[in-house]
Amino acid sequence: MSDEVPPARVSSPSLTSDRPAAVDFQGVTKIYGQGTPREYVAISDVTFTIPDVVDHGEISSFLGPSGCGKSTVLRLVAGLEPQHPPTIGTVTVLGRPVVGPGADRGMVFQDYTSFDNRTVLDNVIFGLECRGVPRRERESEGLDWIAKVGLDPRRDSGKYPHELSGGMRQRVAIARTLILRPRVILMDEPFGALDPATRLDMQDLLVRLWREVQATVLFVTHSVEEAVYLGDRVFVMATTPGRIVDEIRLPAASALARETQSAPWFHEQVNALHARIEQVEAAAKRPENGVSHRIQAG
Ligand SMILES: Nc1ncnc2c1ncn2[C@@H]1O[C@H](COP(=O)(O)OP(=O)(O)OP(=O)(O)O)[C@@H](O)[C@H]1O
Ligand SMILES: [Mg+2]
Repeated sequence: MSDEVPPARVSSPSLTSDRPAAVDFQGVTKIYGQGTPREYVAISDVTFTIPDVVDHGEISSFLGPSGCGKSTVLRLVAGLEPQHPPTIGTVTVLGRPVVGPGADRGMVFQDYTSFDNRTVLDNVIFGLECRGVPRRERESEGLDWIAKVGLDPRRDSGKYPHELSGGMRQRVAIARTLILRPRVILMDEPFGALDPATRLDMQDLLVRLWREVQATVLFVTHSVEEAVYLGDRVFVMATTPGRIVDEIRLPAASALARETQSAPWFHEQVNALHARIEQVEAAAKRPENGVSHRIQAG
């Protein structure tokens, strides 16, 4: 059996417009600690394009073994250090090179990142406050968003994060991000810590809100089911060094998560992807692959 992960199955071109791509990576390599003994190639020559589809936006899922560079990719899009800037290559968002964080991008992480000393409402409207939106206006918009993410504006808006369940905290994180209407939403395993039923509810919530805001979503997950349900496309990554090995086009989420997950096409796709990921993980575990990701010093 070959040690190589077979080459990517490149999908057919999508419905593109002449607008600049929502997110574009060209030959992106990220080496951490370059020039030090700890030098490490996290991702190598990553190239992909997510089009800015008119009146739709797209959800792209990123799947791959731990350490393959999924968070590195997302944080490069976000313009967050130390992932930003790339060592080699270019990252552009909506046609402009990424030079740092910006209002066109919003990020939701796995760990609950609300401010502990702020109420739900004050967390949700934090970004509007930073933008100088008058109090009355931002509070009214905040209460709308609290309702949109399925919380009760009357009961929940005065609560503090420690009074909320994990699912509720992620609803707050989503509201806090979407209230700013970013064109690109970056989600790094946002539902990874939730129980399975809450997770499906959150997937439905995300699809509902995504239809409303029509943003481009980059969604990192370890769940193949979640990647297939949410993704218009799925990028499969391999490790040592981190790279994209497959780009697969899928139907956009059109039904509720529980319904979709009983459809035959869904099972077929999930099984195929599980097999693919096992193959990628097996290739990464072979001992001869352990050295290839380290760059020789000097
Ligand atoms: N700041 C850093 N300095 C040095 N190495 C780093 C840094 N951040 C990440 N790495 C390394 O780069 C590689 C890719 O990390 P990254 O966090 O992007 O992986 P991931 O795919 O998100 O993994 P996981 O699924 O576990 O979250 C890993 O080997 C990691 O140890
Ligand atoms: Mg990660």
